[in-house]
Amino acid sequence: MRRLEGFLLLLLLLAGCISLPAQQKEGSAALIKPGEIWPDTDGKHINAHGGGILFHKGIYYWFGEHKTAGRGGNSTLFGVGAYSSKDLTSWKNEDIVLKVEENDSTSEIIKGCVIERPKVVYNAKTKKFVMWFHLELKGKGYEAARTGVATSDSPTGPFTYLKSYRPNAGVWPINVPSSLQAKKVDETNLKWWTPEWTKEVQDGLFIRRDFQQGQMARDMTVFVDDYGKAYHIHSSEENLTLHISELSDDYLSFTGKWSVLAPAGHNEAPAICKRNGKYYMITSGCTGWDPNAARSFVAESIMGPWKSLGNPCVGEGADLTFESQSTYILPVQGKKNAFIFMADRWRPKNPIDGRYVWLPLLFEDEKPILRWQDAWDLSVFDKQGKETKASTKKTKQP
Ligand code: DGJ
Repeated sequence: MRRLEGFLLLLLLLAGCISLPAQQKEGSAALIKPGEIWPDTDGKHINAHGGGILFHKGIYYWFGEHKTAGRGGNSTLFGVGAYSSKDLTSWKNEDIVLKVEENDSTSEIIKGCVIERPKVVYNAKTKKFVMWFHLELKGKGYEAARTGVATSDSPTGPFTYLKSYRPNAGVWPINVPSSLQAKKVDETNLKWWTPEWTKEVQDGLFIRRDFQQGQMARDMTVFVDDYGKAYHIHSSEENLTLHISELSDDYLSFTGKWSVLAPAGHNEAPAICKRNGKYYMITSGCTGWDPNAARSFVAESIMGPWKSLGNPCVGEGADLTFESQSTYILPVQGKKNAFIFMADRWRPKNPIDGRYVWLPLLFEDEKPILRWQDAWDLSVFDKQGKETKASTKKTKQP
């Protein structure tokens, strides 16, 4: 009888009538299967791209871009979606938590705008959940380059849209010599991508250009440090330089203290974590929706200086970040120094089919390392701990 049931199940699977969830249980541990369809608890592929995760009161909340089918699916027709989970593998759809405006055409988040890479943090003082995101205005392509903010009393929303803007208007970064603020450049024969032009970008060409109106803000993340300060990190200056900005105590505005990371380095998709007191950042290059090689950086202070550590990916597929682009680094609760690298495998022709590449972010010789895994579970971090302990023991022996 068992064999007959098995045979029938196989037939149904082959006929495509039923499908097994990608993140199914095998043995006792639920597996994470990078790049595969990831069904939520209703059996639908999770729709939370360019996402980030907040852990609050024992529950993980995954916020991301809610995409739609077809070529235009990157335009935001509904808003930002959220999912909740206790174990990081089984996710319940919590619906759209920030809704776009349906009727008010003067709204900056009118249906058809582009909302990317939403990140939510919790402010313990105000008891508000604060969502920041990259906002592009409807019909304007990617030229607006603004950062938007919304708040809610609950992680599952509804979030209320507050404002969007280009940050740091009228303030110079702390790690670019202030003498450069007055530099005059004859741009008549200055061609993009030449060494002369790169030098001028490093010397603040675009910071000066956007000084009054505020700096461009595209791919972004938000990071809350152990001591409660939050930082907004975004691609700026035509995606050439990353900006790291301190947020106000309520996390709703910029204090004006900011620094540049890798000037003219052409980085997107910043994701950050803190391990043993040091900050690690993983970014991508800039090739639109196509994958490229990831980069990594380390710093003792979030405002820099940052040192390049090269491509964190190793093995086959490393040169294209395993066909994905970073979005977030998630600290796993209850495990020391356990981090998950979260990335997107974009599908621009049908954005709703975009896949999630989650990999354990391990550290070797104080460098972040990413290796492809077909399927894995959180016990990988326990092994890491043991291996580290074992190797520490070994090195202590004469
Ligand atoms: C790459 C960025 O990382 C994405 O978030 C998105 O903005 C695409 N570019 C658009 O081409």
